Amino acid sequence: MLSSIVWLVAFAIISKARIIAPGGQWINLSRLPPQKEVARRASDAATFPQYNFTQPLDHFIDTGFTWNQRYWVSTRHYIPGGPVIILDSGEDSGEDRLPYLDTGIVDILANATGGLGIVLEHRYYGSSVPVLNFTTDSLRWLNIEQSLADSANFLKNVQIPGISEDITSPGRPWIYYGGSYAGARSGFMRVTYPDLVFGAIASSGVSYATVVDWQYCDIIRQFGPADCISQIETTILEVDSLLDKSSSHGPIKALFGLANLTHDEDFASLIAAPLGAWQDKNWDPAVNSDAFDEFCAALGTPDNVTTSVAKGVTVSSAVINYATYINETYSSRCRSPATLDECFGTFDPASYQATDLSETWRLWQFQVCTQFGFLMTAPPPQIPRVISNRLTLDYALQPCKFSYPPGEFFTVPNVPDVAVINAYGGLNIAADRLAIVDGQEDPWRPNTPHSDIAKNRSDTIIRPFKLIPGAVHHYDENGIANHSAEPPAIHTIHDQEIQFVQAWLKDFQAPK
Ligand SMILES: *[C@@H]1O[C@H](CO)[C@@H](O)[C@H](O)[C@H]1NC(C)=O
Ligand SMILES: *[C@@H]1O[C@H](CO)[C@@H](O)[C@H](O)[C@H]1NC(C)=O
Ligand SMILES: *[C@@H]1O[C@H](CO)[C@@H](O)[C@H](O)[C@H]1NC(C)=O
Ligand SMILES: *[C@@H]1O[C@H](CO)[C@@H](O)[C@H](O)[C@H]1NC(C)=O
Ligand SMILES: *[C@@H]1O[C@H](CO)[C@@H](O)[C@H](O)[C@H]1NC(C)=O
Ligand SMILES: *[C@@H]1O[C@H](CO)[C@@H](O)[C@H](O)[C@H]1NC(C)=O
Ligand SMILES: *[C@@H]1O[C@H](CO)[C@@H](O)[C@H](O)[C@H]1NC(C)=O
Ligand SMILES: *[C@@H]1O[C@H](CO)[C@@H](O)[C@H](O)[C@H]1NC(C)=O
Ligand SMILES: *[C@@H]1O[C@H](CO)[C@@H](O)[C@H](O)[C@H]1NC(C)=O
Repeated sequence: MLSSIVWLVAFAIISKARIIAPGGQWINLSRLPPQKEVARRASDAATFPQYNFTQPLDHFIDTGFTWNQRYWVSTRHYIPGGPVIILDSGEDSGEDRLPYLDTGIVDILANATGGLGIVLEHRYYGSSVPVLNFTTDSLRWLNIEQSLADSANFLKNVQIPGISEDITSPGRPWIYYGGSYAGARSGFMRVTYPDLVFGAIASSGVSYATVVDWQYCDIIRQFGPADCISQIETTILEVDSLLDKSSSHGPIKALFGLANLTHDEDFASLIAAPLGAWQDKNWDPAVNSDAFDEFCAALGTPDNVTTSVAKGVTVSSAVINYATYINETYSSRCRSPATLDECFGTFDPASYQATDLSETWRLWQFQVCTQFGFLMTAPPPQIPRVISNRLTLDYALQPCKFSYPPGEFFTVPNVPDVAVINAYGGLNIAADRLAIVDGQEDPWRPNTPHSDIAKNRSDTIIRPFKLIPGAVHHYDENGIANHSAEPPAIHTIHDQEIQFVQAWLKDFQAPK
């Protein structure tokens, strides 16, 4: 999934040292004591054998270098001659995707079709790392063209230890699945390599890349609990106007425990951080986060009470409650000798310079800065807002400039080159046997074919177009062992996916 917090992606990209939060704020986790962690089921998942596939560093120019791409296989339901159900692991370690091979969508489709299940790790993520460090130059092979070519090469040539038959494409039907960034990739694979990818499911596939993405937070505004959203809107309007006046500028930051955070943009960014929890909601209790509900509970309900917090500075109780939540959750946890700027600031170029392989935050961020965008900014003035108007494009681009100084062989563009991504179809991406599956309340929906500005489509077996009611981010990807205990909307989408994949497979004919 794209980290909620920059997210995309899915997307909270939680790196060893940093999280990048909505509004692009960066929080140095190693300076904060650990917080309650969202339960992860990966460790409970059955163990699947793990293998390597040899890939060239560059598919288009011969460099002579190769690297190992990691993948996992489930033969649990496999009937020789059956299809292959492959899950693209996107911008994360493939290990985190193993629950989908165990009880999630891959297991569900493999069981229904006698299929072989595979999780394929993406270049540069997990242990599928083709380079020795993450400098700008070393990251130059991390792009959509190379990573799609990896998958094509895999489909054409993989030989799985212990499976003697030839399962490669196009001799076998391969069904390609991905969620979020990987969902976009799933669609891109179907349209780029139609002879290799027999069918594909793009779940919450963010095929439409945009330089700025104010719509993400606007979905939260539209679908969040009304009282909670009202409290957030009240707070943001008051905070922005108090920041504007020199007499209230200091006192309002102090109320949040952030008087010494130098830049107002960092302040605005940090107070947007709780919104990232919207995306962490899941119907599956094993991976659900209730952080958004806790945030809303802390904000209370609208009233007409105001309080004077400094001479001439009066705020609503919404602001008091919001400030208390931020102070307790973030500000007060940044302890001396670290300064607030060290915990929450983004203006020190020196803090971006480490390029060793542990700095995994550099990976998705690089894809954001070069090709995907999705930079979180305030909405246009006529749209009510749940994040501060201090969150500008310049501010969101700053980590791009600081993190990736020009190399000898590669320079990151001044703004992300989203046209490269949108050339695969954007909001209009479509093909026979390409299913588009999205969540109604998914903050990434505006970047999918279910965007409010996309053309409506009919939903057919050959081109399924499914919107899961009440769902957030790729809710169909999860499954629990007892499928009848899944909520009705999830049960329904899984049944529909089984039905259209089975129908597609009836049409498969191996080439002569
Ligand atoms: C796969 O490749 C990785 C990285 O190159 C290596 O550390 C690992 O031992 C390999 N695993 C197998 C099973 O060959
Ligand atoms: C596998 O599919 C069969 C029906 O084909 C069903 O009875 C069974 O519950 C399924 N098992 C799992 C683990 O989904
Ligand atoms: C990064 O790795 C390349 C080799 O791939 C090497 O030439 C370069 O010096 C390394 N840079 C840093 C900063 O480690
Ligand atoms: C922030 O929280 C700390 C720890 O609970 C407390 O000492 C401090 O007074 C709070 N600051 C504000 C501005 O409320
Ligand atoms: C802010 O910084 C000043 C000096 O740098 C220090 O004296 C003061 O205690 C700090 N305030 C807070 C709330 O950390
Ligand atoms: C707040 O004040 C408005 C207008 O004075 C009133 O209509 C509303 O009912 C009040 N709300 C509450 C919760 O007291
Ligand atoms: C985060 O904080 C740790 C501990 O203070 C420090 O060593 C590290 O350099 C910081 N990382 C970043 C990216 O600022
Ligand atoms: C899209 O089309 C479907 C049927 O084809 C219809 O039920 C739905 O209301 C349409 N949605 C919009 C937003 O027009
Ligand atoms: C599966 O879930 C259903 C519905 O919640 C429940 O009735 C049934 O007992 C569960 N089965 C098992 C084996 O836990």
